[in-house]
Amino acid sequence: MESRELRERFLEFFKKREHTIVPSSSLIPDDPSVLLTTAGMQQFKPYYTGAADPFHSPHPTLGGRPLGSRNAASIQKSFRTSDIDEVGDERHLTFFEMLGNFSFGGYFKEKAIQYAYDFLREINVPIEYVTVFGGDAEVPRDEESIAIWNSYGFSMEKQNLKLMGREDNFWGPTGNEGPCGPTTEIYAGGIEIWNIVFNQYYCHPDKTLEPLKTPGVDTGMGLERLATVSQEKENIFQTDLFDPLIALLPTHLGNREKRIIVDHARAIVFLICDGVLPSNKDAGYILRRLMRRFIIRARNYSQEYFTILGKVIDRYGSVYHELNSEKTFLIFKDELSQFEKTLVAGQHELEKLQSIDAASAFRLYESYGLPYEVIKDLGGEKAKSLARDDFDKEFTKHQEISRAGQEKKFGGHGLLLDTGELKAADEREIQIVTRLHTATHLLQAALRKVLGESVRQAGSDITAERTRFDFTFDRKLTSEEIAAVEQVANRAIQDDLKVEYKEMPYEEALKTNALHFAKEKYPSIVKVYTAFDSETGRVFSQELCGGPHVQRTSEVGKLKIVKEEAIARGIRRIRAIIE
Ligand code: ALA
Repeated sequence: MESRELRERFLEFFKKREHTIVPSSSLIPDDPSVLLTTAGMQQFKPYYTGAADPFHSPHPTLGGRPLGSRNAASIQKSFRTSDIDEVGDERHLTFFEMLGNFSFGGYFKEKAIQYAYDFLREINVPIEYVTVFGGDAEVPRDEESIAIWNSYGFSMEKQNLKLMGREDNFWGPTGNEGPCGPTTEIYAGGIEIWNIVFNQYYCHPDKTLEPLKTPGVDTGMGLERLATVSQEKENIFQTDLFDPLIALLPTHLGNREKRIIVDHARAIVFLICDGVLPSNKDAGYILRRLMRRFIIRARNYSQEYFTILGKVIDRYGSVYHELNSEKTFLIFKDELSQFEKTLVAGQHELEKLQSIDAASAFRLYESYGLPYEVIKDLGGEKAKSLARDDFDKEFTKHQEISRAGQEKKFGGHGLLLDTGELKAADEREIQIVTRLHTATHLLQAALRKVLGESVRQAGSDITAERTRFDFTFDRKLTSEEIAAVEQVANRAIQDDLKVEYKEMPYEEALKTNALHFAKEKYPSIVKVYTAFDSETGRVFSQELCGGPHVQRTSEVGKLKIVKEEAIARGIRRIRAIIE
């Protein structure tokens, strides 16, 4: 059965059985204890505990209408970060669709098992065997489920019912607390396809279990797995959910490569269209990792990047209306151009190394943005002994050093004012730092005018004494070039350009030509600062920035470059002061 029909039949089946059909919630959950939505039950968490009432509480994915029933069913966009490194085998995915039916005090074990049994019969998927929670010191064996399955012909004697422990047949909570309970799981075609959770407990952050007043049902069936069995395929990647994507890739490519590319392509599209932006933190970091792995894997046929992403939108757009190719391409393109630059330089550096340990890997990460996996991939044999744990330790060590450095820098000044990007100790410093802020924008614009558009910000740091600006450029500047940069910047100061900002959504700002710093995580509404000639309208500099800035460039004073040096391959650092 085609996946489209599987989705429809599932929802139809539960609609007929008095379930409210609820749209998928976003991959970015309301629940702050998890980074991304990992399960269908997440949007229903408050109903299990009684914190929300299905008949009166507004339900977010129903536009604020209440569920109006104690039973619900959905097809949930889900994402499991824990599986990123496993992708490439026959069954692991990051993004997947989860079919689920839920009850909050409506029905319990009897009906939940009956519905699963009946639905699988209806779509001709024979159950191979089932598993039931076998009990441990804290939670008793699930006798009720055993008896129900016995009535359908499944028993331990027949060896089509197996008892399992806590590891396998107990689910939840998502995040560090919430509903959880024993499960019964259904296997077909050699794989687990349906997990039926009986939420009987609330798990507290200290891991103690408290019985829930009204036990509930939470089920999850991966659409990809169900399709594999229903379509009688050997693995998920042969189903109609992936096959059209795989067909776009060159045939000589290994299975592992192909699977990573198509898994990540789906994940990238869905994350971007739910509002995640690549960054170095949280969900943004996951997206960046996926994008970079996708770019690395697919870079030999990079003309296919957009075909593959476009195909995902083609295939899924009619089910998930939020998918938008313009937005996806725009954000992907931006990350691609940033990453390509550092990739070339980083790869070069990596080739020079004899072997790669955690410290050298971290340097590659820090200077070129090469993520751990990429270093591991590109390094091959040389990176054999490199382990994620050691890399993470380097990362933490470095963060601590840089935090201590920050505190030292501002600690002696008493009050620390922090307005947007600006850090200063008193009013006088605020003024100087504000001027230096604008000077930094003028400096970047001047560098690009003199050295070319390939110059991009690679970092910056402003104190009351100076601005320090790092940028991409592959050789030392000549003294003529330095003089020319100063001249162009000072000319803009003399011209007394007007400095103004406009606030707009980050995505809209990306569409303007405004410069932005790829490593920065911007808020959803950003300021785009422009320095322009108020008579002719000619724009000198335009950047995404938190500010603050002077109102007219003449307030900056005179800019002087005091030092120019290399800090990493392909990255130069300029120190400049204002007089
Ligand atoms: N919430 C359960 C799962 O994700 C059904 O497997």
